[in-house]
Order: sequence, then C-alpha cells, then structure tokens
Amino acid sequence: MPAVSATAPGKIILFGEHAVVYGQPAIAVPVTQVRAKATVSADISAPSGQIRLIASDLGLDCFIGDLPAGHALVVLVEAVAEQLHLTRFPALKLQISSNIPIAAGLGSGAAVSVAAARALSAFVGHPLDDDQVSHIAYRVDQVYHGTPSGIDNTVIAYAQPIFYVRGEPFQRLFLSQPITLVIGNSGNPSPTSLVVADLRVRWQADPQPYERKFEAIGEIGRKARLALESGYPRDLGPLMTQNHALLQDLDVSSLALDRLVEAALASGALGAKLCGAGCGGNMIALAGTENAPRIAQALETAGAVNTIITTLR
Ligand code: PMV
Repeated sequence: MPAVSATAPGKIILFGEHAVVYGQPAIAVPVTQVRAKATVSADISAPSGQIRLIASDLGLDCFIGDLPAGHALVVLVEAVAEQLHLTRFPALKLQISSNIPIAAGLGSGAAVSVAAARALSAFVGHPLDDDQVSHIAYRVDQVYHGTPSGIDNTVIAYAQPIFYVRGEPFQRLFLSQPITLVIGNSGNPSPTSLVVADLRVRWQADPQPYERKFEAIGEIGRKARLALESGYPRDLGPLMTQNHALLQDLDVSSLALDRLVEAALASGALGAKLCGAGCGGNMIALAGTENAPRIAQALETAGAVNTIITTLR
C-alpha cells in the first residue's frame, strides 16, 4: 500500500469565542498559512494492529498501544477505527507534523485530528467525508477541552468560513469582499481547557452578569455576519474591538494580548481582538487595503513572537 498524506489548516475565531460555549453564535475562518500534516505508510517491521506514531513536535516516537488509555491520539485512532467499522488497522506508521502553534488559539489539536483521520481512512481505502472527520475531531477535542463548542473541528474539517451555533448545522459564510487580517502571537501558551473551566466556575457562581456579556457577544457576531456578507467590511473593525472589550470583561484577556491589541489600533488597524480561549495565545487585527505589513511590524515591536498576514475571500 502506498503512503498517504493529508493536511488540515489552522483556524481563527473572528467573533464569539467563549459565548459560543453558552449557545451564542460565533464566526470562524480557516488559516491556510499554517497546517497540520499526517502521513500514513505500511510498517512491515511492526506486528499487525500496531501503529507506530512519530510526532517530533510532541516529542513522540512510540506505539499507540504504549500511550495511556484516554490519550488524545489513542482516542483519535479508536474513533477512526469505529467510524470505519474496523477491529484493527494493518501494521502502519503514522507521522504527524504541524506548524500551528500549540495552545495558542489556532486550532492545532483539531487540525492534527482532521489530518490524521483523513490519512488513516484513505490509507485503508475508505476515505471519510468532512462530516465524519469533523465528528472524530470533536471527540478528540473533548479530551483536550472537556466541553468544546464544536466550532474548531467544524471550521477545520470543512475549511470554510462558518457562522456557528452549538448543536445546529453550521452555515457557510460568503464574504462579499476579501478582508486582510494580521495575527499576532503573544508567545504565551494558554491551554483552552483551563480558561474555559475557570470561566465556567465563575459563571456558575453568578450566571446573570456573564449571560448578559455572552448575549452582547452574540449580538456582535450577528452584526459581523451582516457586515461580512453584505459589503460593509469597515463595520467589522469596531465590532472586533467591542468584542475584545467584552472578552476583557470576562477576564480572559492578558496584559500581553491587550498590549498587542492597543499596538494594532495605534498603527492603523480598523479593529483588533484576542482570538481563541485567551489568557495568552494569539490576537487578530483587521487591516485596511495596504497597511497589514505596518501593523505586523507594530505587533512585533510590541512583543509578538510571530505574525501572520492572511487574506480571507
Ligand atoms: O483556543 P481555541 O482555539 O481552542 O478556541 C477555543 C474557543 C472557545 O470558545 C473558548 C471554546 C470552544 O470550545 O468553543
């Protein structure tokens, strides 16, 4: 059997992170400049059913069977086998690599799951469709995140801009005009599960003020959808900055993220906000037609360890 490779993009949440966990709409888009890649090949040296896993970025070179039960990659392989009605895979080697920063709000976990599910299923001759792959990535995200909304696995499996409400079929977004974003990495990893769990505890202790903020974020997401689809992308900037203020109110920003947001606005960005779980990770800034490189430079001066300029169409 020839080797099979598959890739999956990173993602950013344009509007609605956290509120989406509580039933509000959110908007997410794929980021194709960063990708996870999985390659599956036969491994004649291994016994049948054994999967040798090589993931240098994670410091792993072992058999899947050596990982603890419940490990995200074990759950991934089991979910693919279940979806394919396979009792065991042939002896094979699964190589995973990714240039998506880990724990930084760019969907690295879901991208690895999507790429690996595609490569494993194609290798055994039964490529899974986007919906099946998304479902598998959701199950793995439950290991990483506990209570994921499902937005990460959906936007990455379908690789399209989406308007997403938890528990409902996603709606594909069609942008009326391209928009350019600058993504700035604060350099501080921040595991989503911890930030989401901490917010949940605070929400449980006093739900009403949190729910008002979630609703306000949801309203911003609905307005943003109109702006994206009906040709008023300039309205997006202020909506982004308002969304960031509400995320600050939810106490999921950080000094480093706030500094980057301020630097982006001061250098001419039309709007800026943290993206993903927050407390670290990345932020995004909406650029005008020509000022993206200047904003990226300002972000680096303000401490971003890495910037990406991406145009959405
Ligand atoms: O940090 P990320 O990229 O995994 O995004 C998390 C988004 C949250 O809304 C905070 C959680 C979720 O499951 O939607």
